[in-house]
Amino acid sequence: MKTNKVAAEVFCMFLFLLLLAGTGNAAEIYDFNPDWMFLRSDRQLAPKEYREHKSIWAGAKAATSDVVWPFTAINFEEEGFRPVNLPHDWAVEDGFYPEEDGEQGFRKRGWGYYRKRFFVPSTWKGKRVELQFGGIATHSTFWINQMLFHHNYSGYNTITMDITPALMYGRDNVIAIEVNAAVFEGWWYEGAGIYRDVKLIVSDPVHIKTEGGIQVNPLVKLDGWTIEGHVDLVNDSKMEMSPVVDLSILDPDGKKVESKRLLPNLPVNQTVRVPFSIRLASPQLWSPDTPSLYKLNVVVKGEARTFDEKTVNFGFRTFKFDFTNGFTLNGKQIKIKGVCNHQDHAGVGAAVPASIEEFRIKKLKEMGANAYRCSHNPPSENILDLCDKYGLMVIDENRAFNAGPDWLEYVRAHIRRDRNHPSIIAWSIFNEEPLQGEYRGQEIARALVNAVKSEDESRPILAAMNGGFFSADSARNVLDVVGFNYQYGQIDNFHAKYPNIPILLTEGASAFETRGEFATDREKFISSSYDVDAASWGTTHRKDWEAVLNRRFLAGTFVWTGFDYHGEPTPYNNKFPANSSYFGCMDLCGFPKTAFYIRQAQWLSKPVLYAIPHWNILDMDGKEVEVFCATNVDEVSFILNGKNIGTAKVDPVEMLTHKITYEPGTLLLIGRKDGKEVVRTQLETTGKAVGLKLIPDRTEIMGDGYDAVPVTVCAVDTAGRIVPDANIPVEFEITGLGRNIGVGNGDPTCTLPEKADSRPLFNGYAQLIVQSIPGKGSIEITAKSGKLKSATCSIKVASAEKTMMPVIPGFTKGEVTISGWRVSQPSTSKPGLLSDNSGDLLSPAQIGEDLILKPKDWVVFFCKFDLPADIAKEGGSLCFRNMTGRASIYLNGELALERKTSTPGDVVLPLKDISGTVEMNVLMQPDSRGHIALGDIVYITPEKIKATKSSTK
Ligand code: GAL
Repeated sequence: MKTNKVAAEVFCMFLFLLLLAGTGNAAEIYDFNPDWMFLRSDRQLAPKEYREHKSIWAGAKAATSDVVWPFTAINFEEEGFRPVNLPHDWAVEDGFYPEEDGEQGFRKRGWGYYRKRFFVPSTWKGKRVELQFGGIATHSTFWINQMLFHHNYSGYNTITMDITPALMYGRDNVIAIEVNAAVFEGWWYEGAGIYRDVKLIVSDPVHIKTEGGIQVNPLVKLDGWTIEGHVDLVNDSKMEMSPVVDLSILDPDGKKVESKRLLPNLPVNQTVRVPFSIRLASPQLWSPDTPSLYKLNVVVKGEARTFDEKTVNFGFRTFKFDFTNGFTLNGKQIKIKGVCNHQDHAGVGAAVPASIEEFRIKKLKEMGANAYRCSHNPPSENILDLCDKYGLMVIDENRAFNAGPDWLEYVRAHIRRDRNHPSIIAWSIFNEEPLQGEYRGQEIARALVNAVKSEDESRPILAAMNGGFFSADSARNVLDVVGFNYQYGQIDNFHAKYPNIPILLTEGASAFETRGEFATDREKFISSSYDVDAASWGTTHRKDWEAVLNRRFLAGTFVWTGFDYHGEPTPYNNKFPANSSYFGCMDLCGFPKTAFYIRQAQWLSKPVLYAIPHWNILDMDGKEVEVFCATNVDEVSFILNGKNIGTAKVDPVEMLTHKITYEPGTLLLIGRKDGKEVVRTQLETTGKAVGLKLIPDRTEIMGDGYDAVPVTVCAVDTAGRIVPDANIPVEFEITGLGRNIGVGNGDPTCTLPEKADSRPLFNGYAQLIVQSIPGKGSIEITAKSGKLKSATCSIKVASAEKTMMPVIPGFTKGEVTISGWRVSQPSTSKPGLLSDNSGDLLSPAQIGEDLILKPKDWVVFFCKFDLPADIAKEGGSLCFRNMTGRASIYLNGELALERKTSTPGDVVLPLKDISGTVEMNVLMQPDSRGHIALGDIVYITPEKIKATKSSTK
C-alpha cells in the first residue's frame, strides 16, 4: 500500500491540475504509471477449480472473474503484493541463476501479477476512456473490474484499449493484469513485466482517433511539396456533428507556415476519414545532419467547445534504395552507417527511462552513426522521437513472422503508430526466418507486406535475411529491398543474379570485444579489444566497412550492435557467468570500446586518432607491445617519453597496428594528413588510484520523477588522471531529490545485482543511474571506496512542467466512504439543520447524482456516520470530490465550512477534536444552471489533506 504522504501529494497535485485541465480541450492524458501493486511468482496463479452450479453460473456472467481468478477481485486483499511504479522490469531486479537461460541473461522470468486501484469521476461518463500500454513482456491478460477484457501475445506492441464500457463511474475501479514472461520471443534479454509507459486517455465523444488518427505523408512534386494525409474523426456522441477542423503547419522554429480548414460531417457512431492536402513550396529538409522537424497541429471545434486537439511531428525528405547507387537521401548518394540495437541498458534492464534512451542516441551520433535498426521488434515510441530529433534513419522492424489474424493486426497497429516519423526509411518484416527461402515463408512475407502496405505505402519493405536468397520461392520475391545479415560471400553473386534488387547489410560485423581487455581468453570469457575476434558468420569492424566501401550498389551496413545488451553472450553462450553480449561498439553502460573509435574513424569526416592498450601494463618493461590506432589519418608518429620512435603509414581499411618496446611513461601519438598534423593523443602511465571521481552526464535534470542521468564513476591518481585498470569496489550514497535506479560497469561476466548501492569499477569505470524525485532542489551523490578519497557531485533538480496529469489514486487503507445520504425537498428560504429524527421527510440521495433545481432553491443533505477511532484520535480529513453548488457544511450542529463558489470542485475539511457518531448537514444552493451535486464521492481519510480555502475554520 502506498504511503499516506504520497497519496496526499498526488491528491493535492490533482486538485491543482484539475484546475489547469479545466481550461484545455484536448484529450486529457493521465500518467498511469504510479501506484501499482505487484507480485512475482515462479508459477502461474492457477484459476480456482469450481464445479457446482452456483459458481459456474456466476462465473459465466460479466464482471464475475473473481469466481475463477481470485486475484482479479475488486476487493482482493493483495497479500504478498508490493507497491511498484511503472515502467517496471522484474527480471533485472533479481539476481542471476546459472540454471536459467543464458540467452535471457540467466534471469528468472516466470509470472508477474499487477493490480491498480484508481478512481473514475462521474464527470467522465459519456467520454471515451482508453488505456495505452507501451509494451509488456511477454504475454498479458487484462481484467477490468472483474471482467476478462483482453489478451496480448507480444512483448513489443503498443496495446490500446477502449475501457469505457468496463468502468464504474464515481467509484474506485481495479485493473488486474497477469503477465506471463515464462514465454519469450527472443534469444536476447527481453525484460519481464510492464516495462514501458502506461497512459490513460480521456477524450470527448467527438475526437481524433487515438491510435494512428492522424497520418501525414509529405510528397515531393515537380512544383514543390504536398503534405497529404488524413485525420480519423470519431463521433461517439448522440448527434450528427459538423465540426470545424483546423490544420496548421508549423516550421522548425514553431512559426505557422500553412493552414487549412476542413468541414467534415460526422454521422452518429461512425469514424470518418477526412483527407487533406496542403502545399508547401520549399520546406527545410530532414536529414541526419539537419534533422528539421515540422509539426502538424489539428484542432477539432464544435459550436460551443473544442472537441480535441493534437500535434504530430513530421519531416520532408526523399530517399531511395537504389540497385546501382545503394542509397540516396534528398538526391545525394550516401552510405548508411547503421547500428542494430536491442532496447535494454545496464541497471534498468528493459525499463529504460526516456532520458537514458536519449543518452544512448546521443552516444550513437557521437560515434558517427546515421542510422538505427530496431532489431528485432518495434521500439518504444520515444526512440523514434529521438531518432527524428537527433537525425538517425530508422529501419523499424516487426517481431513475429506470423500471418495469423492477431499478428497481422499487431503489424497494422505498429505501422499506424509509427508512420509519421520522418526518420523511418524502411519497414522490416522479419529477421532471419528459417522459412525465408521456401513457399510458406514467401506467403507469410506476402501477408505481412500487404498488412504494412494497407497502412503505409510511402516506404520500402525489406527483411533481414541470412539465407534463401536464391530459391525460386523466397521472401525475396515480395520485398522491395533485400537485407543481408552477414553472408558477405553471397552479396556479389546475388547482385549479379538480381541486379535490379537493392541490397544492404541489415547486420554487419558481429565482432566481440570486452572493454579494456587486450587479449582474448576463452577460459575467462574475455575477448580482445583489437578488433580481431568475430563470430564465424560475421567479420571484424574493419572488414565490414571495407565490404560496404568496395560496393557502390550496397546501401550500407547496420553493425551488430551499437551497445552491448543483456543476454546472448556469444561466443560464451550458456556458459555462466557470461551474461551479456560482447558485440557492442559500447558496453552495457555506453562506455566506448575500441570499436566505437574504429567506427568514428570510418564514419566521421573529422580526424580521429585513438590508441590502445592503456599504458599501465604490468610486467611488460622492455617487451614488445602492439599499439593499435583507430584512425583515419595518413600516418602516425610515436614519441615515447620524449623520444621519437618512428612514424608508420595507416592502411585505410586496417588502420594501424604498430609494435613498440614498452616503457612506462608517456606515449605521444601525432596523426598527419597530407603531411600536416591534424590530431594528437597520448597514453600515460598513471599512478595508483588515490581517490574517486564522479562525472554526471548532465548537471541539471527535471524534477518530474522520470528524468534520469547516468553518472560515470572512476578512480584517479594524485595528478587527477583516470586510472584505466582500476578494478575496485565502490559504494554510493544519494541524498536530496534523487534515487538510485540501477548500477552497471560493462563487465559481461559480472553477476552482482544491478539494483544495488555499490558496484566495483570494471577496467576503470562504473555507472550509477540516478532518477529525480518530484520537486525542485538538488541531488547529492557520494562515492566511497575504502581508504580512497571519496567523490561527491551535485545535480540540480529543476521544477518540471507537467505534461500529464496523475490519475486519482484509489482509496488507501483507513479511508471510508460516507454513504446513506438523504436529501430534503427544495425550499425557497434557507432551511434549518436536520437531525436523525427528520427521517421520513427526507428522500435517499445518491452520491454522484446531479440534482436540478431552481436557481434560488435550497436543499439540505443529511447523513450520520461513525468516526473511526484512529481519526478521532489523530485527526484526518473529510473530502467531497467534485462538489457542485454553494454549500454550508455542519458537523454536529456546528458550521465547519462555508463553500462560496458553486462551480464543480473538490472540498476538503479537516477533522479534529471530534469523535463518536457525527451528524452532518450540508445546506446547498445550485450553480447558475440550477445544478447541485454532493460530488463523485464523499469520504473520510486519516490523511491531513490541505483544507479548501473557503473554509471558515
Ligand atoms: C544474427 C541475429 C542477431 C544476433 C546476431 C549475433 O544472426 O539476427 O539477433 O543473434 O546474429 O551475431
